[in-house]
Amino acid sequence: MKVLSVVGARPQFVKLAPVHQALVARNHEHVIVHTGQHYDRDMSDVFFEDLGIPMPDENLAVGSASHGRQTGAMLELLEAAFQRHNPDWVLVYGDTNSTLAAAIAAVKIHLPLAHLEAGLRSFNRHMPEEHNRVLTDHAADLLLAPTEVARGHLMSEGLGERTIVVGDVMTDVCLKIRDEVNHQAPPMPAQWGDGKYVVSTIHRQENTDDPARLRQILAHLSTTTHEVRLLAHPRLRAKAAQHGIGLEAANVKTFEPLPYPQLVHAVMRSIGVITDSGGLQKEAFLLGVPCITLRTETEWVETVKLGWNTIDAECSRSIDDTFNRPLVRSGSPYGDGHAAEKVVDALSARLK
Ligand code: UD1
Repeated sequence: MKVLSVVGARPQFVKLAPVHQALVARNHEHVIVHTGQHYDRDMSDVFFEDLGIPMPDENLAVGSASHGRQTGAMLELLEAAFQRHNPDWVLVYGDTNSTLAAAIAAVKIHLPLAHLEAGLRSFNRHMPEEHNRVLTDHAADLLLAPTEVARGHLMSEGLGERTIVVGDVMTDVCLKIRDEVNHQAPPMPAQWGDGKYVVSTIHRQENTDDPARLRQILAHLSTTTHEVRLLAHPRLRAKAAQHGIGLEAANVKTFEPLPYPQLVHAVMRSIGVITDSGGLQKEAFLLGVPCITLRTETEWVETVKLGWNTIDAECSRSIDDTFNRPLVRSGSPYGDGHAAEKVVDALSARLK
């Protein structure tokens, strides 16, 4: 079986790692196409190096642009790449513009399309990620859902027959790297230091692009008595600079985005995470750290239900109080760390 994976943005490289390993372990052919949506070394190459993924077979070097221009450029180049490789499956991941472009390119030339992380919904029609995941789910032939909640969403949209629950592949990587990091701590940035701290990341356009909203979030981060280590995504830096907003405060220090093992290590030793990232909310949960999510909703509802994730778009909850509550581990809604093998089984079983 020949599977062609399309990736382009940081969280997709993390999901690609266990899938690549599971495909190779069963002697399947795996072609990796990188759209080039993320291109900075610390947003892209370090993930391939640290997670043992071979360099992509193709890099389309699309780069940053408006949604339409970026997605359109990918669409054109992906169609040609798919024709060159003619895979048995095109496999797309998550909810980025790279995901949507690949989905459209594949169905237009009648290549079987599988969507990994299918069925997640925020029900927020303003999020570009929501447009991308809904459209991709409806285009795909095989929907690989991470949870029963995701399957429920797909069933209510009439897509139940194409759906298989495989678990969450990000859990596969996160638990594996946690064990490696426990065995040997990765080298942290020179200025990292010890002590108690909160990890924060902010990158969604609804939080970065409006200066009033960005100021509100930064003011909120400065209300905690703890040191906040803000891992600044390039979008955050670019928008803050554009609006003349300083990211640092008395208790807020900025760092470059961390490679994956360093991120896992940083979260494990933190007292809490404040983020708008989908992946990081779940990683905090898996690593047993409380999280505050600065959005109006989450796709990973299990983290909220089990008490580990607090949704606070208004920035109105006390950070110190939220991180001081005692929490108890219960349930593992994201699978047992073997989702990638189930993905490969599902692709083989449904091969036409
Ligand atoms: C994208 C995804 C989002 C995902 C996130 C992970 C979409 C619509 N959004 O958001 O779902 O959670 O990736 O990070 O696909 N930039 C750089 N260097 C890079 C990459 C980006 O400087 O390597 C800057 C550019 O200024 C660019 C901005 O970041 O304009 C936004 O990048 P883009 O890829 O469009 O979206 P993200 O915000 O990263």
